[in-house]
Amino acid sequence: MACALAAEGYHVTLLDPSEAMREHAMVNLKPYAGHCRVWDGTVEEASQIFGREVFDVMLLHAVVCYVDDLDQALGGAAAALKHRGVLSILFKNRDALPFRHAAEGRLDEALRVLDDPIDVGKLGIAYRARTRREVEEAALRHGLRLRKAYGVRAFTDLLHNEPEEQDMRKLISLELRAGEREPYRSVSRLLHLVCERA
Ligand SMILES: C[S@@+](CC[C@H](N)C(=O)[O-])C[C@H]1O[C@@H](n2cnc3c(N)ncnc32)[C@H](O)[C@@H]1O
Repeated sequence: MACALAAEGYHVTLLDPSEAMREHAMVNLKPYAGHCRVWDGTVEEASQIFGREVFDVMLLHAVVCYVDDLDQALGGAAAALKHRGVLSILFKNRDALPFRHAAEGRLDEALRVLDDPIDVGKLGIAYRARTRREVEEAALRHGLRLRKAYGVRAFTDLLHNEPEEQDMRKLISLELRAGEREPYRSVSRLLHLVCERA
């Protein structure tokens, strides 16, 4: 996302505590070095590093699954956002955890994650899935009001084969349309909440 936004001409600040990830980002962002910066730190520290109320938009994508304290993470983001700034939060959906295991034949794991929000992804790293309610309520505690909620990867996460190009367009259309409506949104692999700072 950082590269896509940088390619559109946005000023991008990438904040990550992992040296390996920062190095990877620096290589990919090199063509946009004039309007991008890569910084060492966590979202919890964002306002100490950059100041309060400085960002128009913050993306917290696939990050809250790796933090222990959701309030500290969302509070950190909220402090660094301008008034009426937008926080985009993408995270693993607690209510969809069993589907991938069941589709791939790991029935013991599918049963386990019905009751346990901790799982291990394809990279072999443990993460905590969250419910929409949990994230939405935590966001609200920090003055972040929900503007829009989407489901992401309702179908693609369960496909065994990549479709042909012409079907790919239909599949993307299916994902985009289903992701905005129930019951698909609630059982999508990922949830995307777009919040605005009061
Ligand atoms: C799955 S990657 C997602 C990277 C990127 N956001 C994306 O969507 O491609 C998770 C990243 O979150 C970073 N991370 C973990 N804890 C963090 C924290 N407290 N604040 C900011 N980033 C964190 C990790 O170092 C890792 O680079």
